[in-house]
Amino acid sequence: MKKIEVIIREEALDSLKKALSEAGLSPLTAYSVRGRGRQGGIRYKWPEGVEYYDLLPRVKVEIVVDDNEVNKIIDIIMRTVRRGVPGDGKIFIIPVEDVIRIRTGERGSKAIK
Ligand SMILES: Nc1ncnc2c1ncn2[C@@H]1O[C@H](COP(=O)(O)OP(=O)(O)OP(=O)(O)O)[C@@H](O)[C@H]1O
Ligand SMILES: [Mg+2]
Repeated sequence: MKKIEVIIREEALDSLKKALSEAGLSPLTAYSVRGRGRQGGIRYKWPEGVEYYDLLPRVKVEIVVDDNEVNKIIDIIMRTVRRGVPGDGKIFIIPVEDVIRIRTGERGSKAIK
């Protein structure tokens, strides 16, 4: 099993959730985060002066799946989130040792089916 962690722009969340649901992949965790990529923060010029935003608001989505679903999910993310400009986000793939469904005690793949 793998955990896919993807950090995206807030406005991309709805289309990503919709595309995942349509592919039969509904379970996920999403939460608001703040972050920066390799460009660092952004400098914004207001009439009153320049303001620097060190960390920008993003959404992090976490999905735990069997190994054979990983590429499908990466394809969906690329298709729905990518605009082709800096700040599009990043995908991290992390090995998951075990999963337990609390209600039933099922473990591993059975617990995420
Ligand atoms: N190496 C990293 N470690 C942890 N979080 C990261 C890393 N790179 C990016 N992020 C997170 O992803 C968000 C989006 O990153 P971003 O898309 O700007 O990556 P990038 O490497 O700068 O690529 P690009 O050049 O396309 O902007 C960041 O705001 C940050 O939250
Ligand atoms: Mg960047």
